[in-house]
Amino acid sequence: MDELPRLGVNIDHVATLRNARGEDYPSPVRAAILCQESGADGITAHLREDRRHIRDSDIQEIKEQISIPLNFEMAPTNEMLDIAVRTLPNACCIVPEKREEVTTEGGIDLRRSHNVLGPIINELKKNNIRVSLFVDASNDQIELSKELGADIVEIHSGEFCRKVHYKTDFQNELNKIKESASFANSIGLETHIGHGITFESIIELSRIEEVKEFNIGHFIIAESVFIGLSEAINKFKNLVRDSRKVL
Ligand code: PXP
Repeated sequence: MDELPRLGVNIDHVATLRNARGEDYPSPVRAAILCQESGADGITAHLREDRRHIRDSDIQEIKEQISIPLNFEMAPTNEMLDIAVRTLPNACCIVPEKREEVTTEGGIDLRRSHNVLGPIINELKKNNIRVSLFVDASNDQIELSKELGADIVEIHSGEFCRKVHYKTDFQNELNKIKESASFANSIGLETHIGHGITFESIIELSRIEEVKEFNIGHFIIAESVFIGLSEAINKFKNLVRDSRKVL
């Protein structure tokens, strides 16, 4: 069997909870360490422009205290580029960011952001940081990712996962993700998937052979309230492994 897809845990919402009370707990750094001890293959954190969850010091401390790869999610701005180059995460996932959104609503529009992204991607690569672009399941966007020099595309799975969760017809969304993963792989891009993933939606997504990594945040942190962080991570890892077995 091929290697199983890696599980990256996004710990942003541990910081959301901390910030809701203005105290210094729960600590996203402690969560990152526990994720590592529980079998997570990487930690993802999004330093938003408005610092609504993760803060600059969290990123620094997480990088210092974990030995698994850090995936730094960032908007394509010079401020974030400077922080990335100072922190030297394993990878940067570039995402679009709107101040008023609750969460990242869609993939980045590479046609519109092409000129801004080129120099940022070059600078990240010069610093040996792998570059991931968060895109919708579209061959056009994936082709542009390759042209821009990205190493990875992370395909947005939000709409698919929502349809699975609310039990509406998800086949069309799933087909788009499958086709995009296959196309990305065929042009030499590593494929990741992220956004909205739950215990249910991971099953179909795990059966997409080209996928090398999942990045999961909100559901893992939410589920931790009931079963604990380690158990939520364990359950995701088992679901990925078991879904692959039936290929
Ligand atoms: N991947 C990317 C690029 C994201 O922006 C997010 C949300 O921060 C995630 C994955 C994780 O999404 P969720 O919190 O819905 O699991």
